[in-house]
Amino acid sequence: MYYSGRAETRMVTPVDAELRKEPSAWTSAYTHPSQVRRRRATITKKLDLLGISRANRGSAVLDLCCGNGETLETLYALGFRSLQGLDIEVPGALQADTRFRTLLGDAAAIPLATSSVDWVLLIDSLHHLGPLSHIDAVLSECHRVLKAGGRLGIVDFPSSPQVRLAFWFFRQRVGLWTPYLKSFGAMVEEEWCFLSGYLADWPAVDRRLRNGLFETESIKRGLIHFFWTLRKATGAKDLRVPR
Ligand SMILES: C[S@@+](CC[C@H](N)C(=O)[O-])C[C@H]1O[C@@H](n2cnc3c(N)ncnc32)[C@H](O)[C@@H]1O
Repeated sequence: MYYSGRAETRMVTPVDAELRKEPSAWTSAYTHPSQVRRRRATITKKLDLLGISRANRGSAVLDLCCGNGETLETLYALGFRSLQGLDIEVPGALQADTRFRTLLGDAAAIPLATSSVDWVLLIDSLHHLGPLSHIDAVLSECHRVLKAGGRLGIVDFPSSPQVRLAFWFFRQRVGLWTPYLKSFGAMVEEEWCFLSGYLADWPAVDRRLRNGLFETESIKRGLIHFFWTLRKATGAKDLRVPR
C-alpha cells in the first residue's frame, strides 16, 4: 500500500516489512466475520457485472490485490482452473491452497510474462494503490501481462457525492449499530490516510481509465461502486498514459 500526503511518498516493496502491511486495525476490521460474510455474498454479482462469469473456463485469471483469496475461491467454484493471486501480503492459508498460485509482491511489478493472462481483476483495491504515479505503473503492468484482447475488470468507487456522503457518515461514527457497520466504519477510518488522496485524485484516475492504455468494454454503476471492464486492444502498442 502507498500512503499519500507524506512529504516523501515511498514505494512499498516486499523488502519493506513495515510499510507493506495494512495497519493491523484495518486487517482486523477487514477480516471481521461480518465483513467476510458480506463480501462473499457479493462476489458472484461483481463477477457477473464485470462479465467474467461468461468467460471461457480455460481463461488464465490474475486476481491482483487478492486479499484473502475470496474472489479466487468463487472463480474456482465457477469452474475456472487457471487462477493466480498477487498481494503484498498473502495469508499462509492462501499460500498453502494448491488450487491457486499465489504471488507476493507489488501490483506495480507483476512477476509474470508479457501477454500471459486473459483477465486481470482489481476488486475493491484501486483506492489502495495511489498515488497517481503508482496507479499508472499498476495499469501499465496490467496492460503488459494481458494478452491482446484480454480484459481488466475493476470494481471500486468514484468520488461521487453519495460516496463522499457515505464516508462522511461512517467517519462520524454515529448510527453504526450492527457489527458490519461498526467494522466497516473502522476500516474507513484506518484507510482514510490513502482514501482521501484517492478521492481527491479521482478525476485524474477516471481520465486514465477512460482515455488511457485500454478500451472500455463496459461500465456499470451501483449506488456506490462502479464495475468497469477494460480491454487491451488487439495489436495494442505500449501507449503512454495521458496526464
Ligand atoms: C480492500 S483489500 C481487497 C482485497 C480483495 N481484492 C477483496 O476484494 O477482498 C485491498 C488489498 O490490496 C492489497 N494491496 C495494497 N497495496 C498493494 C500493492 N501495492 N500491491 C499489491 N497488493 C496491494 C492489500 O494487501 C489488500 O489485500
